[in-house]
Amino acid sequence: MSVLFFKRFLQRPFQVASICPSSKAMVERVGSKMDFSEPRVIAEYGPGEGVHTRAIARRLGSGSTLLLFELDPDLTRDLQRQFADDSRVHVFHADAAQLPDELARLGISGCDYILSGIPFSILEKDKKRILLQKTYDALRPGGSFIIYQVTNELRQHATLFQHAESEYFLQNIPPMFITVFDKAHTRNGASHPAAMPQPAHASATQ
Ligand SMILES: C[S@@+](CC[C@H](N)C(=O)[O-])C[C@H]1O[C@@H](n2cnc3c(N)ncnc32)[C@H](O)[C@@H]1O
Repeated sequence: MSVLFFKRFLQRPFQVASICPSSKAMVERVGSKMDFSEPRVIAEYGPGEGVHTRAIARRLGSGSTLLLFELDPDLTRDLQRQFADDSRVHVFHADAAQLPDELARLGISGCDYILSGIPFSILEKDKKRILLQKTYDALRPGGSFIIYQVTNELRQHATLFQHAESEYFLQNIPPMFITVFDKAHTRNGASHPAAMPQPAHASATQ
């Protein structure tokens, strides 16, 4: 149990939304949804004390970028300390909705994966809709948005993604749904770019 994480939960129960970080089994399961065989751009919403982040950073190749968005100031400071020597990792004390601005500032066209640990289910409807749209737009074609949550209610809102797959994962306190939302390679939802003739002006990053 992370003492800092529990303290922050006591301070901001609705924002932190969990009394303890994800379990080791959960971290491994979520990590298994990502392919690390190439350099990747990955964003993480709500890394907390960094349990998924450390596992991702261990597997992430050189030339990759990992962008962390954490609202809690103490948890952010701790993440900045943990990753101070890792030039691939950028830690922002910011709302997840800042992702497009930071991508633009860094000159990055899109993410391969966006991982979310934030309590989406308690976001107001409008905030949820806007964050989902920004998340979709920030993914490169073929990229995936991966979330773990106590409920699976986001599936009914995240209809802009072309494919979604969920599993109920019991080896965590509390058990959670892990859902992978995929953004298709092409605008018509085809699974591979070759399946659809592209207009001459089409951009690879939308
Ligand atoms: C349930 S905890 C998950 C922590 C960690 N990812 C884990 O699996 O143990 C949610 C985290 O999201 C952060 N958070 C909540 N809303 C956020 C938002 N809109 N943008 C960025 N971080 C947010 C909280 O401060 C907290 O650290």
